[in-house]
Amino acid sequence: MNRILVASRNPDKLRELRDILGAEGYEPVSLLELDLAGTLEIAETGLSFSENAVLKATAIAQKFGELGLGEDSGLSVDALGGAPGIFSARYHALDAVTLRGVYPGYPGGRPLAAADVPADSLNNVRLLAELEGLSDRTARYTCAVALVTPTAEVLLAAVGKIEGRIGDRPVGDGGFGYDPLFIPEGSELTFAQHAPEAKHAVSHRGRALKRLLDFLKEERP
Ligand code: IMP
Repeated sequence: MNRILVASRNPDKLRELRDILGAEGYEPVSLLELDLAGTLEIAETGLSFSENAVLKATAIAQKFGELGLGEDSGLSVDALGGAPGIFSARYHALDAVTLRGVYPGYPGGRPLAAADVPADSLNNVRLLAELEGLSDRTARYTCAVALVTPTAEVLLAAVGKIEGRIGDRPVGDGGFGYDPLFIPEGSELTFAQHAPEAKHAVSHRGRALKRLLDFLKEERP
């Protein structure tokens, strides 16, 4: 197996990366295994998914001296001006001013906090609350991946997207994050009701990683 260093500690994302890359003979090795002391902190200061993917890939490649893969992803909701977007992971905790800094069309709403409630659940509660009564539920997931050398050369930057809409209530227990609310185009089921392979076949991550795999097979067989 060819190992690829992945600049993430998100177990849900890593599970999907392992599913998709593992099936093609690549073994993602993450910061959970590489950086046991948790010392590598990567500031996600980019203003786009792609910028953040490059930042992550560069940081891990420089630190460990091998090709690095960065992945940045999130959900963009049209009625929210494109938010939560690059803030998807911590949407629940952000005020409207911060969100408007990157998404000027963000309508408003308050952050949510509750002890012992996972961030993903709070994110979904806030998303439903902010969309209450709105008929425009269109949204898309985006996944940016970047492959960077230890000398900070960007070998590949690719993006995958899937269009869809936000349901009225969470349904299903598969996937992660916003999946119980996200209904991909052409389906009546949320991503949380999809089997993993069915999600990967059409998802933003599946599509971005397909481009990565094509590149690896052609350029680094
Ligand atoms: P990142 O780790 O900064 O890239 O944040 C990714 C966040 O976007 C996740 O924590 C989820 O909230 C959301 N997200 C990205 N991809 C997915 C997906 O496939 N399903 C559900 N949520 C996703």
